[in-house]
Amino acid sequence: MNFPSKHTATGTTIFTVMSALATQHNAINLSQGFPDFHIDEALSKALGDAARNGFNQYAPMPGLPALRQQIAASFKRRYNVDVDADNEVTITPGATYAIYTAFTAILQPGNEAIVLEPAYDSYIPNIEMNGAKAVTVALPAPDFNVDWNKVKDAVTEKTRAIIINTPHNPTGAIWGKSDWDELANIVRDTNIVILSDEVYEQLVFDGERHYSVLEHPELRQRSFALYSFGKVYNCTGWKMGYCIAPPEFTQAFRRIHQFVGFTVNTPAQHALAHILANDTAMPVHTLMQQKRDHFLSLIKETPFTIHKPAKGSYFQLASYERISDMPDMEFAQWLTKEHGVATIPVSAFYKNKQDDKLIRFCFSKKEETLNAAVERLKKLSEL
Ligand SMILES: Cc1ncc(COP(=O)(O)O)c(C=O)c1O
Repeated sequence: MNFPSKHTATGTTIFTVMSALATQHNAINLSQGFPDFHIDEALSKALGDAARNGFNQYAPMPGLPALRQQIAASFKRRYNVDVDADNEVTITPGATYAIYTAFTAILQPGNEAIVLEPAYDSYIPNIEMNGAKAVTVALPAPDFNVDWNKVKDAVTEKTRAIIINTPHNPTGAIWGKSDWDELANIVRDTNIVILSDEVYEQLVFDGERHYSVLEHPELRQRSFALYSFGKVYNCTGWKMGYCIAPPEFTQAFRRIHQFVGFTVNTPAQHALAHILANDTAMPVHTLMQQKRDHFLSLIKETPFTIHKPAKGSYFQLASYERISDMPDMEFAQWLTKEHGVATIPVSAFYKNKQDDKLIRFCFSKKEETLNAAVERLKKLSEL
């Protein structure tokens, strides 16, 4: 039988490949972006309480009203933006699902969607699964700032969407307000929809702040903003996220969601609503900045070069130019097998596998994990 697969080009994601290699070689896993420490006790208790108290059946399709209201209140508190909990918020099983659903809501075969690379690796397959073409624009290393003329040049009559990500995986760069203004200048008077992947919105360091697309009144009218509870409450395995978008966009989003997922884990929604209303834990950016700073101080004792400290996210890029001239994929595999530390080669975040000899470390780990990893990296010698 000639099996008619919808998307044949996709291999296994690099995160699965490197995590499997890490397990196989008993390596310390600084590759995939997930914390290796416990979640806040209050959150696990809230989850257990919700299950024990009988909240175990289907929640409403758009999500639990109490959770959507807490999200709206949180955006009012933190960004001073008004979000309509009923008509603009949809709870999803993670942000990746929300990104796929938003693309599916708007893309038609033959459309184009612009992706700024390096990029989280679900974007391009999600565009292609919808019969559309991904048009890539490179963010130049080592600063990875957007070259707005290049974005402008990439826009054609067929462009239907631009997906952006701030704070950025894998580079740790964050957008300033002027970036949003530049984007607005480009999409004004077009039918281009923005997908704004803001999963790391609460992970911004050094006293800087995240600018949300929701704060830009003009862009907000044409945007899906996408979030993940996993990154805020260190519970990536819960796969809980949400989409905020104008009512018409939200309707289109829910038309897909109701027939794909329909609804999301009920006890987890109750637990998150409870925690949002009663959050007493240390802000996640404080915790994660401590981890970034600790990692940066340790990595100085190794031959890796840091071109730019991460301003946000879970990730720090490092150059191995003083250690090896191997291609980055080969280097990352060698480092895992021979030195017992797993990372992600940055070429995996480019469609054309562009290789700038950079690897990505995930620092959202226990202090002892980071210490043990760097002890191993210290044994590397310079070329
Ligand atoms: C940029 C970016 N978007 C989305 C996600 C996925 O979030 P979720 O686990 O909620 O699907 C990740 C996870 O690593 C990410 O780095």
